[in-house]
Formats: sequence, structure tokens, C-alpha cells
Amino acid sequence: MTNHTTPRRTFLTALGSLPLLALRPAWAQGMGHDMHAMSAAPKAAGPVALAPVSALPAGAPLVSLQKLANTSSTPGTFRATLTAAPVTLPLIAAGPTELWAYNASLPGPLIEVFEGDTVEITFVNNLPQPSTIHWHGLPVPSEQDGNPQDAVAPGARRAYTFTLPPGSAGTYWYHPHPHGMTAEQVYRGLAGTFIVRAKDDPFAAVPERLLACSDLKLADDGSIAPSDANDEMDGREGQFALVNGQRQPVLRFDASGRERWRIWNANSARYLRLSLPGATLTLVGTDGGLLEQPVPGLTELLLAPAQRAEVIVDAPTKAGRVALVAGVYARGKMGDARPDQPITLLQVDFAAPPAQPPTALPAKLRAIADLGAPQATKRVVFSEKMSMAGGVHSMKFLVNRKQFDMARMDFTSRAGEVELWEIVNESDMDHPFHIHGTQFQVTESEMDGKVTPAPYRAWRDIVNLKSGETVRIKLMQRFKGPRMFHCHILEHENAGMMGQVMVI
Ligand code: C2O
Ligand code: CU
Repeated sequence: MTNHTTPRRTFLTALGSLPLLALRPAWAQGMGHDMHAMSAAPKAAGPVALAPVSALPAGAPLVSLQKLANTSSTPGTFRATLTAAPVTLPLIAAGPTELWAYNASLPGPLIEVFEGDTVEITFVNNLPQPSTIHWHGLPVPSEQDGNPQDAVAPGARRAYTFTLPPGSAGTYWYHPHPHGMTAEQVYRGLAGTFIVRAKDDPFAAVPERLLACSDLKLADDGSIAPSDANDEMDGREGQFALVNGQRQPVLRFDASGRERWRIWNANSARYLRLSLPGATLTLVGTDGGLLEQPVPGLTELLLAPAQRAEVIVDAPTKAGRVALVAGVYARGKMGDARPDQPITLLQVDFAAPPAQPPTALPAKLRAIADLGAPQATKRVVFSEKMSMAGGVHSMKFLVNRKQFDMARMDFTSRAGEVELWEIVNESDMDHPFHIHGTQFQVTESEMDGKVTPAPYRAWRDIVNLKSGETVRIKLMQRFKGPRMFHCHILEHENAGMMGQVMVI
């Protein structure tokens, strides 16, 4: 989740020293407006007039995530249907927005199950494109994981079935993963949340708040704006930053003075450098569930695209309204993207603090066993390359110098074997690394020759890499079959920054 290279308690201390525009490559210097002509995908359009941010009403009470109803009466089985289809909603006054959504809900409905449950989801594809559902972060068999090879044609349906093992409690999500169309399907609205609960959750008595962060980029007529050259290069960031599908909603904080927040970064490319001044934040969970011990005293929380966190929030000592802000995070954007501004995601209304100070959190949340000595190693190098193919400027995003090829297996792994993966970012911008099929443990990171061990053990399926950074992780795949790994800036994934490992 956060930047594991910096000391605990101050997750972003190193950022102050980063140059604002990290290491622009020579070709990018002085190109000025020619950068508009650059594109990683041939379909990138020129800029269209965007709706002003004020076009989307703000300040409504925060809604709860809509839940997907379980239609099974068998204990331990969750059965439901998810239908992906266009849906037209009146979001801004200028005109209707045709979204693509699961069950007409933005974000898609919340799936809530317990460890040990069997999940049976019928996926109905009523989109004009092939699609899949990828169960991001969940330990599901390869053929149930919505790989691009297993596309569901327009008008077709399929069942996804998997059983969630003990220890899998955590905060996950689901989204499409069809070849070459993932970014578009997600930015049109297809993504939903997924929680696996444990029966012995140490925070079961703490009021829980679910905050699914995503964004939308709308043209001034209300339509979904096409991606422009900057979107294709840097990853698309919509002008509307949403929480549970709302712009700047208001959260009335629990009168007990304490809540557990689960936060999803379901944005295609926006990094969330979160702060909530005055409140006391304690990190208790990452992508794959609870930590071993609480990590107190967070001042900021950096969530890269696709990352999730669980945070215990204790109210400030004074009543009042505090903004949850996503501050500027310099991730090495190129092109002529406008400078980022801090964004208010949410307003939090705190009541007068309760008479009793908050009780101490449990010192131990659960055990996370070290995966142990690796029996095999893999090395993944992220890089970028300018291309002039066909006389068109475009940016290629590469894994081990190659663009993704669905017909090519990049690696072979053995099920049940612990592996050390070294991931190297030789490019000029940050990239969040993700692998399917299993959670991993970050062991250390390296920058400018300085090795920093991970400050604590955690289960993750996303780790961010800054430009020039190397991160080492340990993982073990349990199921046989192909697995994807890629940058989770979805435009980069689409532009080739993805590979496959065959687990045998
Ligand atoms: Cu969240 Cu391969 O994806
Ligand atoms: Cu990337």
C-alpha cells in the first residue's frame, strides 16, 4: 500500500526531495505542443472540451455501497448475477452520460462474503465488446480469474466459481480484463468492490466505512470523454474524483469517535496521497487483509492505482468538518498535462469527541508467516520507449523490453514453490506492479544503491515503483495455469506493460 521504502509513521517523508518532474527524457524536453500528437493507442483523439468540475453536484450525504444480494439459500454459498451493460444516467445538467456499469450501479455492487464461502457469479455481457471479470487480488483458480484469453463475447454469459480459503479475509475488487479494452471498460464505469470477512475479525465491533475511490472524465455535453494523448501516456485521470460514485460527499463520523475505513483506489491512474488533518490514523490492513500489528501515527497514506488499505480513524479532539484530501503526488508525468492540484475527495463531519478517550487497539491482529527461502527467482524490468512506427509518435510501455503478447508466456513457475521476484523500474515514471493469483510479501526496495527492508510484513497484490526503484517481493502461486502481471495504470497495461507466467 504505502511506500514501504520510507520509515513507518511518516510514509511520505522522502517525497519532499523528489524533483517535481522527475527525469524527463531528452525527447520530451522542449517538444511543447507536439506532445499532443503523441499517443500510445491509435484511437486516441484530440482534446475535447471537458465539463467544469462544478458541473457535478457535490456535498450530498455519503451513500453506502449498494450490496449485491445473495440469491442462494445454501449456507456458505454466495450466488448472484453481474450484468455489464450500458446505462444512461443524468450526472450533469448539460446532458446524459452513457456509462458501462455492473447491474447499472456506479461503482458496481459490493460483494460481501466470508472466508470459506463458495462464490458463484453468473456474468452476463451486454456490452458491445468482449469482456471478462477479473477478481483482483483474490486467490482464485486461473480459469476463473477473468484472463484476457477467456473473453466472454457480447451477448454471452459465463459462470465464475471459486472458494475463498481461510486467511483470505481482506479488501478486494473486481473489474474487466479483456485484451486491449480493460482501460476503456474501467473508465466507462466497470469496477466493483469485494470484501472477504473473517469470523474472528478483531475490529468486528468498530463501525465500518467503505470508501471506493474512482474517477470519471466527462466532456462538456455529459458524454464520457475520449482519452487524449496525455491520458494514453500518463494514464487517464478524470476531472471528477468520486467516492462511492459521488463528488465530495459528506460523511457524518460515528459518535463513538472511531471508525474502520476500507479505502479502495479504483482509479485507472490517479494516485491518492491521502490526508485527514487532526484525525488520528492507524494503518491496520493492506490489499490482502490485516497486518500483524497496527502501524500508528500515519500522517499520509499513499494509495497507488488498484491499492487498498484498512485504517482505524480516531476523531480529532475538536468537533468540526475536515476534508479528506488527495494531495499532489509527483509521479513523473510526461507530456503537457496540466500541473496537478490537491483534490478534496470527501468532507468528514466530526461531532464533539466522546467523554472516554479511544481504547487501545489490539497489539496483535493476526500472524503472517514469512514465506521462507525462495526456490526460484524472476526479474521484471519496466521500461518505456518512444516509437515512430507508421510516422506516428507513440509511447511503448514494456516488460523486459517487450510489449505484451497474449500468445507468449514470459515465465514458468511451479505451483507451491516460493519465488523471489525482483521488479526494476527503468522508466521515468511511477508504475504500480500487480500480479494475479496470489498476494505477495515485499521484502525490500532499492534506490540509488541503498537497500531498505520492508518496515513490516503485509499481504499485498500491488506495489508501487518509483522511477529508478527496484522492489523485491516473495510469492507463491497455488494454482496451475497462466497468470498475468502488469502495471496497474490501465493505459500502460493496454500499451504493452504486461506479461504472463505459466504456473505448472
Ligand atoms: Cu486489477 Cu490484472 O488487474
Ligand atoms: Cu505504468
